[in-house]
Amino acid sequence: MVQFEAYLKSFRKLIMSLIELRQVERIYSLGHTFLTALTAIDLNIEQGEFVAVWGPSGSGKSTLCNLVGALDLPTNGEVTINGRDIAKMTDAEQSVHRNRSVGFIFQRFNLINVLTALENVSLPLTLRGEKEHTSSRKALAMLEAVGLSSEAGRRPDKLSGGQQQRVAIARALVTEPLLVVADEPTANLDSGNSDHIVSLMRHFNRALGTTFLFSTHNERLLAQVSRRIRLHDGRIVEDVSGCGPRQRRADVDLD
Ligand SMILES: Nc1ncnc2c1ncn2[C@@H]1O[C@H](COP(=O)(O)OP(=O)(O)OP(=O)(O)O)[C@@H](O)[C@H]1O
Ligand SMILES: [Mg+2]
Repeated sequence: MVQFEAYLKSFRKLIMSLIELRQVERIYSLGHTFLTALTAIDLNIEQGEFVAVWGPSGSGKSTLCNLVGALDLPTNGEVTINGRDIAKMTDAEQSVHRNRSVGFIFQRFNLINVLTALENVSLPLTLRGEKEHTSSRKALAMLEAVGLSSEAGRRPDKLSGGQQQRVAIARALVTEPLLVVADEPTANLDSGNSDHIVSLMRHFNRALGTTFLFSTHNERLLAQVSRRIRLHDGRIVEDVSGCGPRQRRADVDLD
């Protein structure tokens, strides 16, 4: 019986998308009233996709990113990641899931200022108990991959905004997550740095097969994505797929 259940579980995983949202609703309580931030969201994201979520302020982009990244739970409906319903995980399982399966990139970079770039990138590995020399080696390789190995010993406040976001990308990817969720990763950057950050994410999507979901206000950046989902008033009003993520090789200048 136990064996059959294990078989059923792995079969279910095989036929399911990496991320599935079914009739998801997120309602915030505001004292005596309620605000519906997302409603009737049905969404499947496959392993290896590179997806942008866009739409006006207040349309629900951050709320969706938080649900997909398991930082938040839906009020109604189901969010499954890699075949597992996040609402049915214990708190400890959710933490392990966030550390092992998801990388996060934030609008304000969220680096720790008292740590060097290398220490910031090592941190998720240290938190999962990896030995210091292993974490440092992996972190340095990731900093090299984002073109910043020469800045490894610098603290974030000595780096430009674009450099800080590249450190954040390295930190998100160092654990080799299945999925990276980035909520407006370019909102604090000029257009040159914004293009560079999206190209870099696209590079890792193609090179490593990591699934990316990022939100943006910037319609110009949508040219680089293979799928874009537009939200309006908490609903998906458009879901457009373009070229496949692994059809072309990355061509990114990392300097
Ligand atoms: N913690 C919260 N408590 C109450 N209401 C919230 C909360 N977070 C978001 N909201 C509301 O939910 C709706 C969707 O917000 P959300 O932050 O997801 O939108 P967004 O598309 O990310 O907006 P922006 O582009 O400004 O970042 C908005 O009306 C917002 O005011
Ligand atoms: Mg937002």
